[in-house]
Amino acid sequence: MKLDKLKKKAAWAALDYICPGTVIGIGTGSTVFYFIQALKTVKHLISGAVSSSHASTLLLQKSGIKVLNLKKFHSLEVYVDSADEINRQMQMIKGGGAALTREKIIAAMSKKFICIIDESKKVNILGNFPLPIEIIPISLSYISKEILKIGGQPKLRKNVITDNGNIIIDVYNLYIKDPISIEKKINSLPGVVSVGLFASRVADVLLIGTKNGIDVIKN
Ligand code: 5RP
Repeated sequence: MKLDKLKKKAAWAALDYICPGTVIGIGTGSTVFYFIQALKTVKHLISGAVSSSHASTLLLQKSGIKVLNLKKFHSLEVYVDSADEINRQMQMIKGGGAALTREKIIAAMSKKFICIIDESKKVNILGNFPLPIEIIPISLSYISKEILKIGGQPKLRKNVITDNGNIIIDVYNLYIKDPISIEKKINSLPGVVSVGLFASRVADVLLIGTKNGIDVIKN
């Protein structure tokens, strides 16, 4: 079965986790695209959405879902987003769509993070997918040198400026055995805005689209 079909299955299953009358947090990417399509069918149930990217904002508005300013909220009931990789501890690599910083903010302020994936995203060890880091442009050389020291190969993501006006480096060949300490280490480098390693704030519910239906894993 094509991965897109599995993404779609997981996205529709997330409708069960919506809290009626509340504002929902929305991630970014192709799986979330299917979730927004699903959400459109029940938009009367929610008060609106806060979005993690300009791309998702446009999709939400096109679907007639009210997009509210993230600045006005300090907590949310539910955040629905996908991941590039997720391990058994529900730790994730995210940021393939360059929206990691806003995704991290929304994940931090949400009581429940519902992660929707196709089954190809499940891994034993994080790091096969290159780890994205959003950085302030002038820190590129310094951070690249520091990443080499921890064993990764940094590569500037070409032609990408984030919604926050920064750049992204993707770190290849980093075998992430201790995600929490790597997240802390990279976060502590001056110039790093955020790292797409969600190791401290993990997903609460994982919905996996598989050939045979939906697998649900709760933390
Ligand atoms: C965007 C993300 C996405 O959740 C991640 O890249 C997965 O995307 P897709 O649903 O297209 O596979 O972190 O910054």
